[in-house]
Amino acid sequence: MNKRKVIIDCDPGIDDTLAIMVALSSNELDVKALTIVSGNVHVNKGFKNALQALKIMGRLDIPIYIGDGKPLERELVVAEDTHGVDGIGENFLKDIKDGIVKKGAVNYIIDILNKEKDVSIIALGPLTNLAEVLKKSPNTFNKIVEIVSMGGTFKSHGNCSPVAEFNYWVDPHSVKYIMKNSQVPFHMVGLDVTRECVLTPNYIELLNQLNDEKADFIVKITRFYVDFHWKQEKILGCVINDPLAVLYFINRSLCKGFSAYMDVVTEGIAIGQTVIDSENFYKFKANCNVLTSVDSNMFMKEFLTRILPHKKNEINIILNNKKYSG
Ligand code: RIB
Ligand code: CA
Repeated sequence: MNKRKVIIDCDPGIDDTLAIMVALSSNELDVKALTIVSGNVHVNKGFKNALQALKIMGRLDIPIYIGDGKPLERELVVAEDTHGVDGIGENFLKDIKDGIVKKGAVNYIIDILNKEKDVSIIALGPLTNLAEVLKKSPNTFNKIVEIVSMGGTFKSHGNCSPVAEFNYWVDPHSVKYIMKNSQVPFHMVGLDVTRECVLTPNYIELLNQLNDEKADFIVKITRFYVDFHWKQEKILGCVINDPLAVLYFINRSLCKGFSAYMDVVTEGIAIGQTVIDSENFYKFKANCNVLTSVDSNMFMKEFLTRILPHKKNEINIILNNKKYSG
């Protein structure tokens, strides 16, 4: 099988950690590196959580490159209320001493794009690192095959303001810069589709029953995130946004959407809002593939069975039982 080369740019982050787990469980992907951006937590915490994800997957051979840590123009606002002060559910896991951790995410991305062909980027956090690559080396940036970005929202309400999704709210200037200057195909995996991807109490209890190290790790790191979802939105379970970006990258049939011109608000009450010209009022060239629907059952099946292939039978019993699978 020809594996697709990817860099996962992320701000781990509980759902980022789950996304890294599913990416490393997928034979279709050749994950070249994890690059860390500030978002859920500052990069100085994010890289430690990235190491935890690599460790549980037995892939500490994959290098981690740390980004500069601050949005292009805004001051950094983190989401420790959602992901915990440690960024991984306040489990305060023991630091992992081995692994390959370096600074210079932006230069790494430029180097690998110049050295290797057919590299794509799965972006799970604010787009700061990518915008900095585009500013520094636009011709190199445009060698990226495609970008699949978890971020933004079309019709769904915001999660950090009435209208804005967190990744694009943290660093709206980066999104704007990329939308205005990039020639790379861009897929926006926004809240319209990720809100359908809920790790419900039933699935969490299934994981509890599987007697499996990876399943136990998922339960452990999502507990804090589940409590936040109940407090914040009276949701039982937790929305796992980032794994959808990975699974959509692998299997486009998971989601449907449309191409349109997208821009983002960079100041004022609506800062971070994605403005998507679905009716083509502005007559600008479409620059974004906006995803609007997802097969959430297929998503959950892919998510669970890829990470836990040896538990496929037990997982399918629950997924195929309407009582549990919604
Ligand atoms: O709005 C959800 C996104 O913001 C997810 O990627 C989450 O990890 C945070 O980065
Ligand atoms: Ca993220």
